[in-house]
Amino acid sequence: MSESYAQRYGLNPLGSGIGLRRDFYETLPLTERTVDWLEIIPENFLSLGGRSQRALDACTERWKVLPHGVGLNIGGPDPLDEDYVTRLEALVRRVDAPFFSDHLCYSRLGGVYLHDLLPLPFNEEAVEYVVPRVREVVARVGRPFLLENPSYYARMPGGTLAEATFLRHVAEQADCGLLLDVNNVYVNSQNHGYDPRAFVDALPLERVVQIHLAGHDRYPEVIIDTHGGPVCNDVWSLYRYVLERTGPVSTLIEWDQDIPSLEAVLDQADQARALLSEVKR
Ligand SMILES: [Fe+2]
Repeated sequence: MSESYAQRYGLNPLGSGIGLRRDFYETLPLTERTVDWLEIIPENFLSLGGRSQRALDACTERWKVLPHGVGLNIGGPDPLDEDYVTRLEALVRRVDAPFFSDHLCYSRLGGVYLHDLLPLPFNEEAVEYVVPRVREVVARVGRPFLLENPSYYARMPGGTLAEATFLRHVAEQADCGLLLDVNNVYVNSQNHGYDPRAFVDALPLERVVQIHLAGHDRYPEVIIDTHGGPVCNDVWSLYRYVLERTGPVSTLIEWDQDIPSLEAVLDQADQARALLSEVKR
């Protein structure tokens, strides 16, 4: 494999981390268990004060903290939100994040934030639309940037490319990294009927700088990406498949609904760390 995106920017694997969620603002900074790094949703920390500021300050003293947004709206028809990007840049600088990320989707329409991350049509027009927006965000924030593959429940009309080809064209033409959500790959593969391993093989894996793992809810007709439970065995096994091809990658457990005890989330992070320790660089 030629020089990876992570190598080009000196982004060494951080290990296994969890998200700094409100439930853990007081307990996480004091934990004696191993936590390698943390992820924050920047929208929760753009206006600081009170509990959130105290928690963030305590955590940045102990760990690397990486912002992972939902509000950039990189693929939506609205212009980039100047105020949001300005405040994101300030947050990235404040926590001295080595990189930051958001989703390859749209999340805002007519100035209104949608409470969902909607997929883009998988076609060249969408690639051409997104690429200069990614380049503008990277220029404004001044750090390496990763796009995440979202989960989706219907394909946008007008698609002409395979999903993996779409991701590849955006990442290569924008020259950004990928945040590979392995649970999203699994959920999409089940809902849309494709082989998740073939999908992984078709990705530009040399651009994967971070991995997400999460739980989902299975219904008779559909699997919903809820982040509301432990990682299932199929996703662990797909994670191992990815790591065998990428080597160790910074990995994060996402648990955002029905949040259990901190110990239960850290148990999942331990499991990811154990797998990371088994793969060769
Ligand atoms: Fe994710």
